[in-house]
Amino acid sequence: MERTFIAIKPDGVQRGLIAEIVSRFERKGFKLVAIKLVVPSKDFAQKHYHDLKERPFFSGLCDFLSSGPVLAMVWEGEGVIKYGRKLIGATDPQKSEPGTIRGDLAVVVGRNIIHGSDGPETAEDEINLWFKPEELVSYTSNAEKWVYGQN
Ligand code: GTP
Ligand code: MG
Repeated sequence: MERTFIAIKPDGVQRGLIAEIVSRFERKGFKLVAIKLVVPSKDFAQKHYHDLKERPFFSGLCDFLSSGPVLAMVWEGEGVIKYGRKLIGATDPQKSEPGTIRGDLAVVVGRNIIHGSDGPETAEDEINLWFKPEELVSYTSNAEKWVYGQN
């Protein structure tokens, strides 16, 4: 089943939005398979955002990601990569629709509270960067037969 990497950045953690954000993924019907609170080093943040290294905000972004606790998670479900991005909303919260996480809970692009993988390859790379294989928990959730139906 498809998996994606989702992280609540230091602003989301500091603002007490963990439960609110986790709950949106849970209520949708996606399954949590890994979760941990970590303070990434700047070097680690640079690895995570390596594809943005030419952008002018890269250094500030990496300083920010490594400035405090980040809630790193892996979520599983049909279409979770693309739909996870939909739940999150546009990068700039000024452009995110109401009803999305950034639309409802953030105001500026530099403090948009959450990260989500943008495709299957980045999802795999980011999961491997942030988690060891044994930190991913495979289990059957009782909700699955109700979320997906029985064939
Ligand atoms: P992530 O899920 O965090 O990867 O966001 P995204 O995929 O919607 O956007 P992108 O990967 O292009 O940018 C990564 C992060 O860099 C964003 O979430 C923002 O926090 C930050 N960022 C992007 N564009 C800007 C910008 O123009 N200015 C500033 N200050 N930060 C930006
Ligand atoms: Mg991105």
